[in-house]
Amino acid sequence: MTQAPVYDPTNDTIRRNPFPLYESLQEHDPIHWSPVIRSWIITRYDDVRQVAMAQTMSSDRLRPFYEALKDERREILSGVMRYLNEWLVFKAAPEHTRLRKMMNAVFSLQMIQGREPQIRSTVEDLFSQAPAGQPFDFMKDVAVLLPAYVILDMMGLPRGDFRMIKEWSDDLRLFIGTSRADEDKYRKARSGADHMSAYFRDVIAQRRATLGDDVITKMLLAQDEKGSLNEDELVAMCMLVLFGGHETTTNLLGSAVVALLEHPQQQKLLRENPQLIDSAVEEFLRYDGPSNSIARVVAVDHELHGKSLKAGERVFAMINAANRDPRRFDRPHDLEIQRSPNRHLTFGQGLHFCLGAPLARLEAKVCINALLGRFASMELGPGDVNWLDALVMRGPSNLPLVLKS
Ligand code: HEM
Repeated sequence: MTQAPVYDPTNDTIRRNPFPLYESLQEHDPIHWSPVIRSWIITRYDDVRQVAMAQTMSSDRLRPFYEALKDERREILSGVMRYLNEWLVFKAAPEHTRLRKMMNAVFSLQMIQGREPQIRSTVEDLFSQAPAGQPFDFMKDVAVLLPAYVILDMMGLPRGDFRMIKEWSDDLRLFIGTSRADEDKYRKARSGADHMSAYFRDVIAQRRATLGDDVITKMLLAQDEKGSLNEDELVAMCMLVLFGGHETTTNLLGSAVVALLEHPQQQKLLRENPQLIDSAVEEFLRYDGPSNSIARVVAVDHELHGKSLKAGERVFAMINAANRDPRRFDRPHDLEIQRSPNRHLTFGQGLHFCLGAPLARLEAKVCINALLGRFASMELGPGDVNWLDALVMRGPSNLPLVLKS
């Protein structure tokens, strides 16, 4: 008898290549209980889409966990929850609707398109520092810095603050999006939230004194019939935009380059036809996108494909599995930069659809086209490519690359 597959995101083979397991789960156990992470793992396209939007699921996945805590961890985390409770991703209507409407006005398409010249010049700067013919780490030297600089510039924050903010944001991530066991993760998350919130309180006070032309000023001035965002909402929104705005896009740039290295014919096609970049970026998002899964909590007991899901249980809807579901996509494991239609779920679905999708797409288009336009060849450098935990985030953590003009 063959053994039933088990989803374990810490397993190194799964981390490197989770797709064979996803395929097997789709086929044999589409609503899979993972004993390793004590959560439901959902892998088929229609189910993942449904989970993202269903009323039977709640986005507020941190609060039940927090409220069940009785020891000192509850006290430590109170200072983290104060802000995370205000994050759009964890909120439900009608509060979500109010905040999202205000943020849609701040992150208008027009505002994002207006950033293109600056994104272009940042990309050129970064590539001009890449050592031609010598191996360098594309993740560290380009993919991490580009989205960070873009979001810092948009928020009117000095690029020099990046290292400091990144440390805080990494500490905060220990609580939000990781399968890593870290002894001190709650204390670190608290320290990250304390530092980041104090930093943004100062910046907001400075903007109140002297208005600028940046996203923080726009958030400060945003109004609806109930008034403007209060101080905690503003601080939380700055933290969320900064948090959501850099790492996901970093991972997209990294996995796009890996995909092109592994598919020389598709790389050639894009080199010869840079106008295909729009559909190419959609395909990079689908083929091996950064949002490996989205998390939910079962809100009310219900059945799915014969399995009983109980209120309070955690659910991971595996976007990357859905994006390769043969029930939805022809030749799902092939990278086809001209794929159409390409309704991937990488930016989520419904109410919580990614606020930053147009910005992420723009950064990827400018960066990948500049890379192929500027360098006649690219090859994998010496050493292994390592991958992040395969639970919430997906992407290479390092990527040795050699570029030749
Ligand atoms: C390739 C890059 C990106 C990917 C793959 C991505 C993915 C996602 C996904 C899957 C969600 C939905 C989460 C859920 O339903 O639980 C989301 C929401 C969100 N994203 Fe992104 N994101 C990216 C870039 C960005 C950027 C650049 C920003 C900010 C500038 C951003 C800000 C947000 C915000 C604020 C939300 C919450 C929206 C809401 O709940 O209404 N994201 N993103």
